[in-house]
Amino acid sequence: QRMRNYRECRSDIDRLSTPFLEIYESLVPPEEEKAKQRHLIASLEKLVVKEWPGAQLYLYGSCANSFGVSKSDIDVCLAIEEPDINKTELIKKLAEIFESDNLENVKALTRARVPIVKLMDPESGISCDICINNVLAVVNTKLLRDYAQIDNRLRQLAFLVKHWAKSRGVNETYRGTLSSYAYVLMCIHFLQRRRPAILPCLQEMEPTYIVNVDDIQCAFFDKVENLRDFGAGNKESIAYLMWAFFDYWAHRHDYANAVISVRTGGFISKRAKDWTRRIGNDRHLICIEDPFETSHDLGRIVDKFTIKTLREEFERAADIMQYDPDPCVTLFEPY
Ligand code: CTP
Ligand code: MG
Repeated sequence: QRMRNYRECRSDIDRLSTPFLEIYESLVPPEEEKAKQRHLIASLEKLVVKEWPGAQLYLYGSCANSFGVSKSDIDVCLAIEEPDINKTELIKKLAEIFESDNLENVKALTRARVPIVKLMDPESGISCDICINNVLAVVNTKLLRDYAQIDNRLRQLAFLVKHWAKSRGVNETYRGTLSSYAYVLMCIHFLQRRRPAILPCLQEMEPTYIVNVDDIQCAFFDKVENLRDFGAGNKESIAYLMWAFFDYWAHRHDYANAVISVRTGGFISKRAKDWTRRIGNDRHLICIEDPFETSHDLGRIVDKFTIKTLREEFERAADIMQYDPDPCVTLFEPY
C-alpha cells in the first residue's frame, strides 16, 4: 500500500535509465580482458595443432556473443575433422596435452551430456571449458553477436536481465531454472515484438550467411552493419524496457499455449510443436524455441516447482520496477 502508484507515468520510469546504465557499464568487460582471452586461445591452439594439424579452436558462449560480463569463464570449441571420432578418448588426450603444459585444474569430464575438458591458465587466471565439434553453439553464438550489433538496448537489457537472474538464483540449469542463453533469447524475442520493433528477425530475411551443421541448415541475414538504424523509430528507454520485459513475463505471457520463437520473430503454439504434455523429463512449462535446433525447448528443464519460483521472480521484478523507491538496488538483492 505504502508504495502504491509510486511510478505513475512513463517519465518516472525513464528517469531510472541513468543508474541502470551505470550498472550495465560496470559489468562490461574491459578491452584488456578480451585481449587476454584471445591470447590464451592462441596459445592453446598452438598446443592442439601439434597433435592434430588442421584443428581449430573457436570461442563461443558469453565471451564471444558479446553478452559476457567481466571475469566470466570462457567457452571454447575444438573443431576437428576426423573420421569416427571417439569424443571420450579425445577429451582424455586433450587433458593430457594441457596437463603437461603447466595448465592448472585440468579435468576431463567425459560423462557429461556435452563432454568437456576444464582448465585454468595460471598466467591470466582465466578458466575455460573446451568441448569438441559443437558447431551449432558456434553458429548460435554468431547469431546472438549479430543481433547485439543492431541496437545497443539489446546488450544493455540482456546484461541487466542476466545480472538480475544470477543475483536471484534463477540462472541455474542444474537446479531447474533457465540458462543465460535462454535469457538472451527471451530478450531478443521481446525486442522483436516491440512496436515499432527494436530488432528485426534475421532468420526471416534474405540469408547472407548459410552453413549446414549435421542435418540442420542455419541461414540468416548477417550484414548487420546495414541495420544500425533499425530500431531508431522506437524511443523506449532501457528502464522502460526492463519494466515491460518483467511485466510481460509476470503478467502477459501465455504460459499455457505459447512458444516464443526468435527464428520466426513471433509465437508458435505449443500444440503445433507437440509440446503440450510432459515427455520423459521435458515438461514444457515455459517454452523457448532454439533458433536452429527447433525441436529443442530451452525451458524443458523447468519443473512444476521451479516454474513457480521463476514466475514469482518475474512478478517481484515487475513490482519493483513499478513501485520500489530504489529499483537499481532492490532488483539485484541476493535471494
Ligand atoms: N548453448 C546451447 N544450447 C543450450 C545452452 C547453451 O547451444 N541449451 C550454447 C550457446 O552457444 C551459448 C553457450 O552454449 O552461447 C553458453 O551457454 P550459457 O553458459 O548458457 O551462456 P553464456 O552466454 O556463456 O553465459 P554465462 O555468462 O552465464 O556463462
Ligand atoms: Mg558461459
